[in-house]
Amino acid sequence: MVTDPLARPHVALPAEPGNGGPALLLLHGTGGDEHDLLGLREVLSPGAAVLSPRGTVLEQGMPRFFRRLREGVFDEDDLSARADELARFVEAASAAHGLADRGLVAVGFSNGANIASALLLRHPGLLRGAALFAAMVPYGAPPAVELSGLPVLVSNGARDPMIPRARTELLEDQLRARGAVVTDVPHPGGHQLDLTALRRTTDWLSALPER
Ligand code: MLT
Repeated sequence: MVTDPLARPHVALPAEPGNGGPALLLLHGTGGDEHDLLGLREVLSPGAAVLSPRGTVLEQGMPRFFRRLREGVFDEDDLSARADELARFVEAASAAHGLADRGLVAVGFSNGANIASALLLRHPGLLRGAALFAAMVPYGAPPAVELSGLPVLVSNGARDPMIPRARTELLEDQLRARGAVVTDVPHPGGHQLDLTALRRTTDWLSALPER
């Protein structure tokens, strides 16, 4: 575990003039790093402030945000501990970079989407929303938190070999049961980011409620 929350590798970019939207908390997939998703800034919200941390777990040299027992089977205790660690980073970095007023929306891919879901479920006031790409069910029995009105977009592929549609629906049901406003953006591809789904995410982001 990292003791100084800001000591973990990350990229922080300030908002450019003219962008009044939320900061993007970019969360990469297994084997990625803090640079992987930076290109999404121009697609989703040009000039947005960005926080992009690297996962602190290594699996055969590949950065991840939490441990797994095998593909698709998570170490839920580690997931919780790493989500808490990431929440401390987000709080410290938001304060250090003056992001508290605009708030953050998580944009996570695969392992990054799964830690984003855990962040929502363990730290419900932390984020203004989340866009989850190639997202799985993080907890068998998620905590009973209140997410009332929180916008969450879920974009999974119909041909994703790791995520049958029923698992996507279970994730969405778990979030809706806690009050989240879930937007389902399925796409025809596999375990990947989809361009059409990203464009719909741009529209979803620009329509987020003011805070
Ligand atoms: C995970 O471990 O979060 C999922 O299996 C997705 C992945 O990272 O491959």
